[in-house]
Amino acid sequence: METHEISNRFLKHFEQRGHTRVPSASLILDDPNLLFVNAGMVQFKPYFLGEVPPPYPRATSIQKCVRTGDIDEVGKTTRHNTFFQMAGNFSFGDYFKEGAIEHAWDLLTKSQADGGFGFDPARLWATVYEDDAETAGLWRKVTGIPAERIQYRGAEDNYWDMGVPGPGGPCSEIYFDRGPEYGREGGPAVDEDRYLEIWNLVFMQELRGDVSPKKGGPVLGELPKKNIDTGMGVERVAYLLQGVENVYETDLVRPVIAKAEEFSGHKYGRDHTDDVRFRVIADHARSGVMLIGDGVTPGNEARGYVLRRLLRRIVRSMRLLGVHEPVLPEFATVVRDAMAPSYPDIARDFDRISDVMRAEEEAFLATLTSGSRIFDLAAEETKSSGGDILAGDKAFQLHDTYGFPIDLTLEMAAEQGLQVDEDGFRTLMEEQRQRAKADAASRKSGHGDLSVYRQVLEQHGETQFLGYTDLQATAKVIGLLADGRPVRSVAEGGKAELVLDRTPFYAESGGQVADTGVLVGDGVELKVHDVQKIVPGLFVHRVEVLSGEVGVGTELTGSVDAHRRAAIARSHSATHLVHAAVRGAYGRRAAQAGSLNSPGRMRFDFTTAGAVSPDVLTEVEEEVNDYLQTDVEVQTYVTTKDKALELGAIALFGEKYGNDVRVVDMGEYSRELCGGTHVDRIGQLGLVKLVGDASIGSGVHRVEALVGQDALRYVRKEQLLVSQLASTLKVPTDQLPSRIDDVLGRLRNAEKEIERLKTQQVLGSAGSLAERAQDVGGVALVAEKLADGVDSGGVRALATEVRNRLGSRPGVVALFAPQGEKLSFVVATTAAARDKGFAAGKLVPSFAESIGGRGGGKPDMAQGGGTNPGGIDQAIAALRTAIAAR
Ligand code: SER
Repeated sequence: METHEISNRFLKHFEQRGHTRVPSASLILDDPNLLFVNAGMVQFKPYFLGEVPPPYPRATSIQKCVRTGDIDEVGKTTRHNTFFQMAGNFSFGDYFKEGAIEHAWDLLTKSQADGGFGFDPARLWATVYEDDAETAGLWRKVTGIPAERIQYRGAEDNYWDMGVPGPGGPCSEIYFDRGPEYGREGGPAVDEDRYLEIWNLVFMQELRGDVSPKKGGPVLGELPKKNIDTGMGVERVAYLLQGVENVYETDLVRPVIAKAEEFSGHKYGRDHTDDVRFRVIADHARSGVMLIGDGVTPGNEARGYVLRRLLRRIVRSMRLLGVHEPVLPEFATVVRDAMAPSYPDIARDFDRISDVMRAEEEAFLATLTSGSRIFDLAAEETKSSGGDILAGDKAFQLHDTYGFPIDLTLEMAAEQGLQVDEDGFRTLMEEQRQRAKADAASRKSGHGDLSVYRQVLEQHGETQFLGYTDLQATAKVIGLLADGRPVRSVAEGGKAELVLDRTPFYAESGGQVADTGVLVGDGVELKVHDVQKIVPGLFVHRVEVLSGEVGVGTELTGSVDAHRRAAIARSHSATHLVHAAVRGAYGRRAAQAGSLNSPGRMRFDFTTAGAVSPDVLTEVEEEVNDYLQTDVEVQTYVTTKDKALELGAIALFGEKYGNDVRVVDMGEYSRELCGGTHVDRIGQLGLVKLVGDASIGSGVHRVEALVGQDALRYVRKEQLLVSQLASTLKVPTDQLPSRIDDVLGRLRNAEKEIERLKTQQVLGSAGSLAERAQDVGGVALVAEKLADGVDSGGVRALATEVRNRLGSRPGVVALFAPQGEKLSFVVATTAAARDKGFAAGKLVPSFAESIGGRGGGKPDMAQGGGTNPGGIDQAIAALRTAIAAR
């Protein structure tokens, strides 16, 4: 049975049983605690928590999920996918345990002819939580499953929560016995490979805190109602029903393996190591496409980093299969064809997805090229110093700076007959992980405990935002926190977080920075520094008490800093216009990837393949400023999402929109879904001046612009700079470029000349040095300290020259050049000296210690450096002794 059919049957089954079909939420639903949506219940969380009344008592969905905790397991086991689909049915205070068991059992065991999955009931097992005899009894009653096939398991296995504070509850899981050839008898408690978990029924009934009950943490309280949250692994059911061996061989994933076989000429199913690579490629390609589809772009942090890691693992795996050419866009096409029937957006938005993949692959291939150079240097250094183990810090540097996976370093080292100090590498990695962990922990505590804010929200509902029309309003304090804890009042000089029932202050969102201003009441004055929606719908004002005392219930009049707000509004409106112009220039594929609207200045990031030419940006600037002259009125209105999209409004990837959306309209030219504040007429922008663009990583470009007076000031400053330069260089402004070229050219020539003279001067001393050669045991030894500052190239040239002058005599030249706190040295031997057994490289250890130095090389010439120029005389003496001793 095809995977799409499994999903369809699931949804149909539950629709027939009174469930409302709800589309999958985006993978990057807005939840500060979650990197990616990792379960079907995430979008329903407010209903479980009782924050919002559920619009339906029962729901069903197929949710896109990403879990990356087990990324290293992918391909090695039969069942780990980073992207997977979770089919779920949900009851919000409606049916509970018995209903959940009945619905699931019926769908699993109903014959395929009757619309079910047709599993053999005799091969299904159930697990229940510790002492949940009630559920065990229900399994027996509803399904007739014998007691031997019901197992009790502890919290580790049979308690479910989101992995973060929030709703949770005991659960009961359904397993399928794949048969004796897959492992030991004894049910899921004994072997989870043979007994494959296919469905988890969670009895969502309580709230957990910082420590999960899975790990022995306490339950903080009951949820308002008893709910059901179930999750069936669509890919797992597919692999059982399709008679294949693992999730990677199912109909929606296997085609990528086929493509990789075609590229590499290797065959899947022949060699275990290759097979793991094939599966990694197939899994990650699918996750990559789905993540980009939901608006993630590769980057160095958080979600972007996960995506980058997935994509790079594909490229690396392909290399290990012997393919060096770009492959990602091809894989993306295969994934699109497989997934589009269930996710049509992937096809609609495919050009952009493919562009992002191509750009990331190009960037990584370039990385591989520069990293390979570093690798070659490190390998050469290792070999020339006589070692055969590449140092751990080199492997780490390659990993950290050049994104080289350790396997790649290992493989390249092996090709050169080298080993890698893996222990050293791992120690450094571990140190880095600890640093990152400490960092993440400190960031998290900055977040505070969200439950306090949720309580305020629950008691008082969402903050009413008045700031679209009013910059001043009277409101009442309904929540007050200091240091993340609720307090009754805060006195003069104190800092607090304050929630009002209504507010004219805009909270940071959609790239628009927060308003600032003051709040004044009877005998009390506060300054508002920042406003954040810490939980959706709740505006939290970060304030400082300038005078008096503020408490819960205090009436305050808020005044937004109007001047600043107007400048922010100009920026935000400018962002919309720049967005429209960029889309005009690059088409729909230029997707907005982030923006910042601060007073007088805007920043706009967008993705597009390839370089952004300066000409296009000039055109964008022209077009926007041209359009300003139409001075159209900015209209805002609320409508349904469908209607807005029909009108051609731009919606942003990864943004969550409700059914009612706000549209900001600047004529036909620009129409976007947006909750921000804008100017009344676009003429108020005055001037929009682009001040630069930069590529900030794979296919993402950043344009910055100044707006209004700030734009004018910028232009004026540039003008001043140019006229200052012109007066310094004494030319009219239009001749500046040629004058600067001229000056730089002369400077370069002068530098070259100085270099030449210096070398000449150094070489000029070769004759007198050679004359000062001393006989040490039949060897002519020239061992000298040079004047300060000769560079290592000069030392080398001089040593060669002195050696030449020693002619056919056995001779050793050792020159030491102090360079401030450091020094460099060269040892050179004549052929006759080498015949007597004096190798330059072998002489270095005799004096290295005296100068805190290292170095090495071939028999005819060795070179190195040191950190103790004070030890040069001692080094010379040591060298003489070493030669005399032969
Ligand atoms: N939330 C549960 C899970 O992810 C059931 O849907 O397993």
